[in-house]
Amino acid sequence: RRVIFSGIQPTGILHLGNYLGAISNWVKLQNEARPDDDILFTIVGWHALTLPQNPKELSVSRRDMLATLLAFGIDPKRSVLFYQEDNPCHVELSWIFNCITPLGQLRRMTTWKSRLATVRNANDESEVDESLLNAGLFTYPILQAADILAYQATHVPVGEDQTQHLQLTRDIADAFNRTFDPQKKFFTLPEVLITPNRRVRSLKDPSTKMSKSNPDPSTRIMLTDTFAQIDKKIRSAVTDSIHGITYDPVNRPGTSNLLSILAACENADVEEVAKRYVDKGHGVLKKDVSEALEGLLKGPRSEFERLRQDRGYLDAVAKEGAEKARARSQKTMEQVRTMIGLY
Ligand code: TYM
Repeated sequence: RRVIFSGIQPTGILHLGNYLGAISNWVKLQNEARPDDDILFTIVGWHALTLPQNPKELSVSRRDMLATLLAFGIDPKRSVLFYQEDNPCHVELSWIFNCITPLGQLRRMTTWKSRLATVRNANDESEVDESLLNAGLFTYPILQAADILAYQATHVPVGEDQTQHLQLTRDIADAFNRTFDPQKKFFTLPEVLITPNRRVRSLKDPSTKMSKSNPDPSTRIMLTDTFAQIDKKIRSAVTDSIHGITYDPVNRPGTSNLLSILAACENADVEEVAKRYVDKGHGVLKKDVSEALEGLLKGPRSEFERLRQDRGYLDAVAKEGAEKARARSQKTMEQVRTMIGLY
């Protein structure tokens, strides 16, 4: 029996990278699921706290994320949809995992290393200064492991950037099994399901991924963008001056990013899509990308605008999701407490 589990940060409005890289795959897995599959999706408020948040904005953002997931087709009748912070066991289990995870393993996380790279010692620019970062950022991947293992997830659909966190999750499951379980198999080692070929890059700097944290909004397409905004951003996307269109992510990252966005919208193979454009220019490609995006986002966008007004419905979905989530993690947590001697 499969237990499919994934999470997303409550960033409010979704960007195209989140959608093509992860959420589209959640919806697909849900819609193609077998009747005995258990499917859970969570909005991870605790993870969001690792960066400074305005409490008022955060409370709006988490509800907007719930509305977004519903608008894109997550169905609360088929999937358990809930806020992470509504099930206390995530934090409880993460504490237990804190106590069996070596610091060195956390230091190797590229997410941590890229945070470290942003903080420089005031006296010596060549040195990084760890004391400028909070402990939550460091232990972030442990909480992620707890999210997944609390439900004994077997499959975790994520974007490529989460691979290392998923490997750590497997290492933690294995460490727990070896430390506390005489049979050494209590936690299932979850499999990661990477959405293929869907690393969506920044429209302005295709060497980086499309992300919420980039200060320049023209680097990303948002779910709430109008067609005019989409068109403007795509038209100003960085490409190259090579004649004709080819898919070549190494030498032509900007052009290739547009091609893979188009292929993702059409659910087609990117090489096949590229063939249609060999003797065409970037203008034609960009126009087609904008139109494909509009076709993809139009329905969900208006559904999102409708749902975000319906607070009563959103709260009811969250409440029911939380109850189901708590019920699903209860047995595992009781067993864990027994195994570690605190029950
Ligand atoms: P988050 O909120 O940053 O991103 C949510 C999902 O979107 C994917 N993604 C992308 N995929 C392709 N191209 C991009 N430019 C892009 N940007 C984001 C991410 O891979 C992710 O799947 N740590 C997680 C949240 C989390 C989680 C979990 C995930 C917490 N607990 C347990 C799975 C299981 C995160 O920050 O995702």
